[in-house]
Amino acid sequence: MWMGIDIGTGGTRALLVDERGSVRAGFTAAHEDMRMERPMWAEQRPENWWDAAVAAIRGVLAAAGASGQQVRGIGLSGQMHGLVILDAADQVIRPSLIWCDQRSQAQVDWINQTMGRENVLRAIANPVLTGFTLPKLLWVRDNEPRNFERVRRMLLPKDYVRFRLTGEYASEVSDASGTAVFDVVNRRWSFEMMDGLGLDRAILPACHESSDVTGTVTAAVADVTGLAAGTPVLGGGGDQASSAVGNGIVEPGIVSCTLGTSGVVFAHMEKVAYDPQGRVHTFCHAVRDRWHVMGVTQGAGLSLQWFRNQLAPGADYDALTAEAAQAPAGAQGLFWLPYLMGERTPHLDAAARGGWIGLTAKHQRADLVRAVIEGVSYSQRDCLEIIEQLGVAVSSVRASGGGARSSFWRQVLADILNKRVVTLETQEGSAYGAALLALVGTGEYGSVPEVCRAAIRETGSVAPRAAEARAYVAAYGVYRALYPALQPIYGRIAEL
Ligand code: XUL
Repeated sequence: MWMGIDIGTGGTRALLVDERGSVRAGFTAAHEDMRMERPMWAEQRPENWWDAAVAAIRGVLAAAGASGQQVRGIGLSGQMHGLVILDAADQVIRPSLIWCDQRSQAQVDWINQTMGRENVLRAIANPVLTGFTLPKLLWVRDNEPRNFERVRRMLLPKDYVRFRLTGEYASEVSDASGTAVFDVVNRRWSFEMMDGLGLDRAILPACHESSDVTGTVTAAVADVTGLAAGTPVLGGGGDQASSAVGNGIVEPGIVSCTLGTSGVVFAHMEKVAYDPQGRVHTFCHAVRDRWHVMGVTQGAGLSLQWFRNQLAPGADYDALTAEAAQAPAGAQGLFWLPYLMGERTPHLDAAARGGWIGLTAKHQRADLVRAVIEGVSYSQRDCLEIIEQLGVAVSSVRASGGGARSSFWRQVLADILNKRVVTLETQEGSAYGAALLALVGTGEYGSVPEVCRAAIRETGSVAPRAAEARAYVAAYGVYRALYPALQPIYGRIAEL
């Protein structure tokens, strides 16, 4: 058997698959809630990810009735962009500023001034965004100099778990792409960025391709987890590249839409291409010598989670989507802007804020929740349109992530994207992709496309409904006009 472990935002999930890529068992251990000391700040404790990883590994072995000896390889996946810093004794210096943390605009501006925007784009194939790892490190430099002085290593979330499993400081190309210190075109760290900004190259871990062996499970970890010492740990991928592997987005022509805490539209690329405005990310794929492009909605599942926590405590997601289905398409002119943690695609605006527009006394909670689902879906359409403008032909979209488990949301997505939305037999996303990468890395399959062709099957699809799709075209036009109208106000709110 092979194991995939995904260090997500809400929890860590471990999966076991057999040599055909069929899932044998899964187990999720929840994380502590993210700490939000101020609006747009978000932190988690890396030690908590490790505890959850141990619980998930033990849980999945127990669920499968398997021993650690039966696990032939482990692939890792994880939330991207988070900053983990270790001191000389390998202790975590401070909680991680995670992917959706937006506090580093001043540092992004400083990077652009110091390096020049054009040089940055040439060095990393992307603009630097507040969510990326580098400006977070510089925020620590500027605001917590004592912590910064102690930094000896910088790791990404899943690579911290790798370090605890193997004792190796290592990463792989897909996750490294989201740090803003990675040369995406040449698939290696950008010393140009590190040197240009006066940062110490030695803090960077070794960087591998995603299906390379990066280390093996240590004897001490074997005792705590039930794994066997010496089990190879493969590179794996950032959660989006891993999810794409799990969805079979490893060859041209198929696009995925992953509705997790964030929402991502993802397309494979044979050659590097990037949006000159940087509205979508161009990163290395977890497939050797291939790339991908993706558009990101910061607050996708997060929007519905926020709604539930604040306005429908105790309700489960099935009950909420059933309630949403009672409201008409378009939610009677109500719009949700999903900018709860600023927005990436297409606005690249850390100061953007969420909210409903168009409320009337007639609206009921069903309209509110339907508008949330529609607003997130409009935002995914923003992502898809830019990807199509880059020349990617899209005939259908493979849906995954928590949001895509709802048949109601899949239908809304099909209507709003005006594309067939396809579901797969295995909807495990990132942890599954990580397990498939482990199958390749241990030599069971010759390449990632080969394992995907063997393991991934489409099982159903929903087509857009003509009347709804037409109504949503008009509504999407209104949605598109809302951000530019509100943008000056966001700046004023940020100044308060
Ligand atoms: C991708 C991104 C998120 C996180 C958390 O760029 O920031 O998808 O990886 O899922």
